[in-house]
Amino acid sequence: MGVNLFIVTSFVLTFAGLSQCALRFDLGAAASENIWTVANNNGSINIAATVPGGIYSDLKNAGILDTEFYYRFNDHMYRWVGYDTWTFTRQFQVPAEFVGKRQVNLVFEGVDTYGQIHINNEQPVTVGNMFVRYVIPFTPETVNTLTVILPSAIEYAANRSAETFVAPECVAPEFQGECHANQVRKMQASFSWDWGPAFPSAGIWKKVYVEAYDTLLIRDTVYDIQYSDANQQWTVELTVHAELLSREQSSGSGDLQFEIQLDDVLQSATKKVNYQGQQGEIVFTTSLNVPAGSVQTWYPNGIGRGRKLYQATVRYIPDGVAETAVKTDTIAFRTLKVVQDFVDPNDQSKGRHFYFEVNGSPIFMKGSNWIPAHVLPELGSTDQYAENLLRASAEAGFNMLRVWGGGVYESDRFYQLCDELGILVWQDFLFACSMYPVDEPFLGSVRTEIVQTVRRLQHHTSIALWAGNNENEAALIGNWYQTASNFSAYKADYIKLYVDTVKPLVNAEDPTRNYLVSSPSNGIKSEEDGYVSENPYSALYGDIHFYIYLSDGWDPAIYPRTRFASEFGFQSFPSMWALNQDISINDLDLGLNSEIINQRQHHPNGNFELVYQVESRLLPGGQFNWNTRETFEKFTYLTQIYQAMSTKTEAECHRRWRGWYDAPTGEGLTMGSLYWQLNDIWNAPTWAGIQHDGTWKMMHYYAAKMYNPFLVSPYVTPDQRLSVHAINDNLEEFGDAVIKVNVFSWSKLDSIYSLTQPFILTNNSAVEVFSQPLTTILNTAGCESLSRKAGSRIPEDSCFLTVQMLSRDESQVLSENFVLPAKFSSVLGIVNKPQLQVSGVSDSVASLPSSRYVRAFDVVVSTDSVAPFVWLDAADAKGRFSENGFIQASASKTVQYFALVDITPEELQSKLTVTSLTHNWP
Ligand SMILES: *[C@@H]1O[C@H](CO)[C@@H](O)[C@H](O)[C@H]1NC(C)=O
Ligand SMILES: *[C@@H]1O[C@H](CO)[C@@H](O)[C@H](O)[C@H]1NC(C)=O
Ligand SMILES: *[C@@H]1O[C@H](CO)[C@@H](O)[C@H](O)[C@H]1NC(C)=O
Ligand SMILES: *[C@@H]1O[C@H](CO)[C@@H](O)[C@H](O)[C@H]1NC(C)=O
Repeated sequence: MGVNLFIVTSFVLTFAGLSQCALRFDLGAAASENIWTVANNNGSINIAATVPGGIYSDLKNAGILDTEFYYRFNDHMYRWVGYDTWTFTRQFQVPAEFVGKRQVNLVFEGVDTYGQIHINNEQPVTVGNMFVRYVIPFTPETVNTLTVILPSAIEYAANRSAETFVAPECVAPEFQGECHANQVRKMQASFSWDWGPAFPSAGIWKKVYVEAYDTLLIRDTVYDIQYSDANQQWTVELTVHAELLSREQSSGSGDLQFEIQLDDVLQSATKKVNYQGQQGEIVFTTSLNVPAGSVQTWYPNGIGRGRKLYQATVRYIPDGVAETAVKTDTIAFRTLKVVQDFVDPNDQSKGRHFYFEVNGSPIFMKGSNWIPAHVLPELGSTDQYAENLLRASAEAGFNMLRVWGGGVYESDRFYQLCDELGILVWQDFLFACSMYPVDEPFLGSVRTEIVQTVRRLQHHTSIALWAGNNENEAALIGNWYQTASNFSAYKADYIKLYVDTVKPLVNAEDPTRNYLVSSPSNGIKSEEDGYVSENPYSALYGDIHFYIYLSDGWDPAIYPRTRFASEFGFQSFPSMWALNQDISINDLDLGLNSEIINQRQHHPNGNFELVYQVESRLLPGGQFNWNTRETFEKFTYLTQIYQAMSTKTEAECHRRWRGWYDAPTGEGLTMGSLYWQLNDIWNAPTWAGIQHDGTWKMMHYYAAKMYNPFLVSPYVTPDQRLSVHAINDNLEEFGDAVIKVNVFSWSKLDSIYSLTQPFILTNNSAVEVFSQPLTTILNTAGCESLSRKAGSRIPEDSCFLTVQMLSRDESQVLSENFVLPAKFSSVLGIVNKPQLQVSGVSDSVASLPSSRYVRAFDVVVSTDSVAPFVWLDAADAKGRFSENGFIQASASKTVQYFALVDITPEELQSKLTVTSLTHNWP
């Protein structure tokens, strides 16, 4: 009987990560079913609950929280929720076949956060780590009563802090958050961040169920997949973590079957295993050889190679018991190394490389940083939301995302999608911007968290690297939290946590990945320096995080020539459309100085910096009043330009520096560019490129260009040359190509001068293919006389350039870019607002960028003069444009709109608005 039930469930599995046992009975239920209730401490609230879920969602569902979570000041109005104690209860009967099973467990995959679990009259179990699975053996009764009591995590953290204080005292006041998140193993951003609100959640945020078996169940599987060139084959070594009976010893024997479905054949191996008088966890190992020719090798996104995933299944079939334990995973075949060799073996002072090598090829990493999709974990883990963001990442050419240490370990589905889309994951462990406790209960909980997490995620091909924490090495050496007077004690704690505790566990559980103690760090050099380097931001080692706000972000000269930038970025406001979702009509009467805007801006000095940036780069010169609703609307658009342009400038530096090495300093050889941040947790001024509602800011449109496998990257050197790099991240050479430089006058449509230069576009490289004095080009084009006529002696004031990388016959545009040599304060000829309009919308024959889009449109934009930073907005239509934020220098330009939800051309046209830079000068 057990076998039947089991086989049915095992074959409906559609993706990896779920372990199977003979019996499973889900205890989750929607509030509408009236099965779970949740009550507060004094009983004044007693409502139906949804499990998995969370208290904020339950209170909202019950009407006690009566507006959207992010509406106006609700992050403050609803804060009381985080201070109460919440008790979740249900009763249940187990199905008849569970009775008499030798092992019955109550399993919580995630409880947020600290509290007690009572099942019947058994000894209560204390929980305190939302990243840990709790397995509680119990004896079922006819009617079972399950109660989960969750006191305030804020109060729990404060209590722990009062007992053993660990810096910082609190987050910055601008965060408007709660203190001592470091004391509780909860999503650290739950208590607020510089881009997000505090909603200190409580609840059963992942699945809860009863499982039962007589022999054992397979909990986790760990794969060690290696390639042998000599034998032309892959070896797949599998470690199976199984659980026997927990309260008594047992013995048994059976067949361990391991199979992988290859391209043409099912490869399998069976071996006999047995155990005698054992209790608790047991480990089995097995292996398979896979001939190289029978599988396709997995490659990351955007390098011109594909990828394929394979199903691997392991079964334990016990002798004489009708019960099979099984687990199926998707795996793939690839090798990956983090290379940190000396750049110059004869001169070690020139530092070390830091790059990822996949299947023997060095691969330049492009992408962003992933923050939690929602501040409420029950909402952040919805598959559709994450899928939208991951597909938008793949469409923009990303091959890496860093899952940042202040969030959560994401769902199985998240990593599965990364496997499918070819997005490598830099996975932080969840410690961020803080010192952390090292008392034994805390460390014990961390050990369980690390072991469970690595075992759960390890089989995902996408995982590229484990990192111990976010910025804690930098915080310690940089005295961010006033720890200098106690430096050696804090340093000892740092080592105890990330080096003595986490590192050996990761190394033991996952033999295939590197462990980096911190990000940023100097990698091997930080280790040699005793794990805390003098300057973890060294350009010669490891990765850096780099932020610069009060400099000219469009100037490539200000950026560090790092080996790998794992964070960098700029803030911008989301669109008015997005802000208006959360804000009532009168809230913005004071524009940038509105109370609501100060409440949303959590980055200290953030609005001041945005004003500085916009005024220094984008305006006719002077200071402006942004404190009206009308000027503020313009400001939101202007901040998006500054963000997109600065991030583009910096990211293109990274890509050019791949092919640049400065022998005197050792700088250059950059091999990674992950900007901060992919997504938004709410609508606020943040570093995000995609708004909380999923629409793309100008930033993400620019990301799709700057991270395209083909990139032509022009810039003006400090000695005033126009330098052009041809970059090709594809592993295959392109061959004959040509660079075309076009000069435009700001006062006239269409180019006034062009020149071309042929070259050979090589593979997996960044090469300077063009360099000429800018003034010569501009003078030849006639810019000097144009400027003189308008009263300026500087040719740059009247002209700008576009640069194209084309196939040699010019039939194929591989990449197109632009150079704006002057600031808009001195640019001549665009002071008249262009007559800009959407002049047509019709169905398009263009192919859809992915199958998630349902319809493509051609959108024709027409103008009577040069229009910088043309921005198309489709209001509440769901979809995106093929490009946006472009400079239009022809009378008519066609872009595509790709709709996620069907819509007619007329409906789309009625939603479209178009604007450009000078329309937004106040
Ligand atoms: C019960 O608790 C709620 C929420 O903390 C509080 O608003 C209410 O005043 C309390 N009621 C009583 C009777 O103490
Ligand atoms: C915090 O400490 C106070 C005082 O000892 C105690 O009453 C309270 O229950 C504690 N709260 C939590 C959540 O541990
Ligand atoms: C210094 O740090 C250690 C370790 O965290 C802690 O035990 C000690 O109380 C701290 N001392 C001071 C003066 O902060
Ligand atoms: C470029 O392609 C050639 C031939 O396909 C290959 O041997 C070489 O390793 C590639 N170069 C890089 C930098 O990937």
